[in-house]
Amino acid sequence: MNIALGVDHGGFALKPIVADEIRKLGHTVVDCGAREYDARDDYPDYARAVGAAIQRGEAERGILVCGSGVGVSIAATKMRGIRAALCHDTYSARQGVEHDNMNVLCLGARVIGDELARELVRAFLTARFDANERYQRRLNKVLEMEQGA
Ligand code: RB5
Repeated sequence: MNIALGVDHGGFALKPIVADEIRKLGHTVVDCGAREYDARDDYPDYARAVGAAIQRGEAERGILVCGSGVGVSIAATKMRGIRAALCHDTYSARQGVEHDNMNVLCLGARVIGDELARELVRAFLTARFDANERYQRRLNKVLEMEQGA
């Protein structure tokens, strides 16, 4: 899969760790920045870049990192077709895909360490949506909400 990766200055330290884990799993990183540390940069710019890469079909999933993981998750979920969530436990990182078809994992680099970040990336990227009727029914309701129905 192509995986869009975006980080702000608060998430910058985790970027090489997350990118390395994505590649170790055999996937391709679509670099959505930041490409250099800038303490004045804004997390919505990277959330938008990752969301847009998925919307354009350039990436199937995305990973966003900021300081807490909260800002990027709020911003990313404003975008049509983006199902982003902050997950700092592997159960949620996996089940978020299996039950909810989460397509963007959000992480907080000021909250978790390198090894947990790697495990979360593995849990997220090895999971597949379970198109069980009840999960699909719930997802359809979420999609209706997105359409303003
Ligand atoms: C940046 O200082 C920080 O506010 C940002 O990375 C993120 O944690 C916001 O939720």
